[in-house]
Amino acid sequence: MGYETARHLAGLGMHVVLAGNEEEEGLAAARKICDEGSEQVKAEFMFLDLASLKSIRQFVQKFKDRGLPLHVLVNNAGVMLVPERQTEEGLELQFGLNYLGHFLLSSLLLDVLKQSGGPGRCARVVTMSSATHHGATLNMDDLLSRRCYSAHGAYSQSKLALVLFTYRLQERLTAGGWPVTANAVDPGMVDTALYDNLCSPAHAAKTPVAKLLFRTPAEGASTAIYAAVSPELEGVGGCYLYNGQRTQSADISYDADLQAELWRRSCALVGLPEEA
Ligand SMILES: NC(=O)c1ccc[n+]([C@@H]2O[C@H](COP(=O)([O-])OP(=O)(O)OC[C@H]3O[C@@H](n4cnc5c(N)ncnc54)[C@H](OP(=O)(O)O)[C@@H]3O)[C@@H](O)[C@H]2O)c1
Repeated sequence: MGYETARHLAGLGMHVVLAGNEEEEGLAAARKICDEGSEQVKAEFMFLDLASLKSIRQFVQKFKDRGLPLHVLVNNAGVMLVPERQTEEGLELQFGLNYLGHFLLSSLLLDVLKQSGGPGRCARVVTMSSATHHGATLNMDDLLSRRCYSAHGAYSQSKLALVLFTYRLQERLTAGGWPVTANAVDPGMVDTALYDNLCSPAHAAKTPVAKLLFRTPAEGASTAIYAAVSPELEGVGGCYLYNGQRTQSADISYDADLQAELWRRSCALVGLPEEA
């Protein structure tokens, strides 16, 4: 899905940086986008391992050193239903990568986004959540599932955290008058490698169903693309988007105290000052 989003944005004339942890795959994807597009199409790969806070910091430094503007940041990466594992810094992987990785990445890139947006042309942060956030519980006292790990619980919690983050980020951007918007996207059920960690019977059952009922990666990318470039969303942030429309997220995601508390704890977990 990330590839389809990148391909589409590059086709619109945007200089796209594909950031990922698989160098060969990423280079090949960037090359394919350039080869298949017109001469103006510009896509490149930069290494970024979202399961490493160190790698995120290094990526941001390299990106900033180049002095490029950043008009759209798509927080797309995710892993789902993985067995209990940790990031490089020992954070539970699904919460650490899906949520904290993007929290740190977005926070460190915020100054570039603020400089890149302008009146009538806000920079945009697009964050991939999921319908699973509706059934999620945010375990504030054990965000890293140290006491009890459930693969499903950790994934859905990470997706709820991304919605809470998006709303809090938008509130902060609005309060500061910055030309940047933040929206969360639910792409629907999309037939991708995300489901590779399903147990074998579930995977076997999913395969024929997915062929019939799931969206293709190109279809799945459509709402992220809408969030990234639609003129309708100029200056509009703090939304949860599904099927190309604003819709309601889980009631709990609108809890401003919870958003603020999660922000505070996230700063502590990734080593940012609280006002970041
Ligand atoms: N598919 C669905 O039905 C569905 C539904 C709701 C929400 N979503 C969300 O949509 C987003 C995209 O998922 P997808 O369905 O397109 O799955 P996918 O094909 O598995 O894509 C996940 C992406 O995350 C990247 N990634 C994984 N670990 C990484 C790391 N350590 N550092 C940097 N990048 C990493 C992967 O890169 P590599 O391949 O190079 O590892 C891949 O590009 C995810 O956030 C997912 O939660 C998907």
